[in-house]
Amino acid sequence: MKFVLASHNKGKLAEMQAVLADLGIEVVMPADLGIYVDVEETGETFAENAALKANAIMEASGLPAIADDSGLCVNWLGGAPGVYSARYGGEGLDDVARYRLLLQNLRGATDRSAYFHTAIVCAFPNGDMLTAEGDCHGAIAFAPMGDGGFGYDPVFLVPSLRRTFAQLTAEEKNAISHRGNALRKFAAELKEYLANNEHLEK
Ligand code: IMP
Repeated sequence: MKFVLASHNKGKLAEMQAVLADLGIEVVMPADLGIYVDVEETGETFAENAALKANAIMEASGLPAIADDSGLCVNWLGGAPGVYSARYGGEGLDDVARYRLLLQNLRGATDRSAYFHTAIVCAFPNGDMLTAEGDCHGAIAFAPMGDGGFGYDPVFLVPSLRRTFAQLTAEEKNAISHRGNALRKFAAELKEYLANNEHLEK
């Protein structure tokens, strides 16, 4: 059975393929099918954005489509940057400028708690949808630490490990991360869905 992942990120493809191979699913990218659809992320929640992307790619391909949307929510900032994590501070900033802006906006904060969130949505051509979400709770450090990962990893502290995401190996991060948690839930949901819908074409 073939599914499309609504992403052009090869890392995400490998991650999804690794999780779904056990279910006998092949995961391809839209470009592999000659599909180039740009979906505007106009949703107010991670799940809404993931659903917008999954539905658009499912409609364009006629295949079940999976999309994810993630971001960092900082309690002192009322949940910002949230769904705007990739664009925090405007389009001109890079990852380092974005986390520096975050640190600046937290000067004097008395609460540095934060969490990452991921929503994964799978849209099927018959109209069925599966949604799986995952969190990882932590705190924003006072200064960046570590040079692994991407995005806000250098400033996201995991209190139980006393390290930032950027100081963890990929395996350590995956075991506790929002994306790892959402992916594991998604694989379990999809397994159950497929078991209950054996008529779906293999
Ligand atoms: P995406 O939906 O996975 O593309 O994530 C959107 C944005 O959220 C990214 O561009 C990052 O700024 C941020 N983000 C999501 N996941 C992570 C993570 O695991 N570490 C650091 N930043 C992340």
